[in-house]
Amino acid sequence: MIGRINHIAMVVPDLDVAAAQWRDLLGADISAPNILKDHGVRIVLVRSVNGQVELMEPHGEKSPIAGFLQRNPEGGMHHICYEVNDIGLARQSLEAKGARVLGDGLVQTGAHGNPVLFLHPEDFNGILIELEQVSAGGTE
Ligand code: CO
Repeated sequence: MIGRINHIAMVVPDLDVAAAQWRDLLGADISAPNILKDHGVRIVLVRSVNGQVELMEPHGEKSPIAGFLQRNPEGGMHHICYEVNDIGLARQSLEAKGARVLGDGLVQTGAHGNPVLFLHPEDFNGILIELEQVSAGGTE
């Protein structure tokens, strides 16, 4: 079902500091900062040939990652995102096998404008997994 890793999302307490570290210390190819208002985050993408790291900090009053940062003041890994070809099929298959989709269970529009869903971390050893539908992403 799952295809490539699309991104690994990290929460950081200060996006500009983190982006400068990745750029200056690691020599990373980073994007300009981008505010995703609907998602309550400000992000920088760290691009590499086989995927990207998404650095994000809370933006706005009710950011969904504010609680994460309170529990992890130094930041940390928030989720890992895999590509799938058909997110509806992926959801059906996962739910049939007992995995739970977060929220209302419906497919949402993700940070990159593609259909996404998040799987319950309790079903995956505490790891939050995002599935994102991209063309020619996964195997179904
Ligand atoms: Co993501």
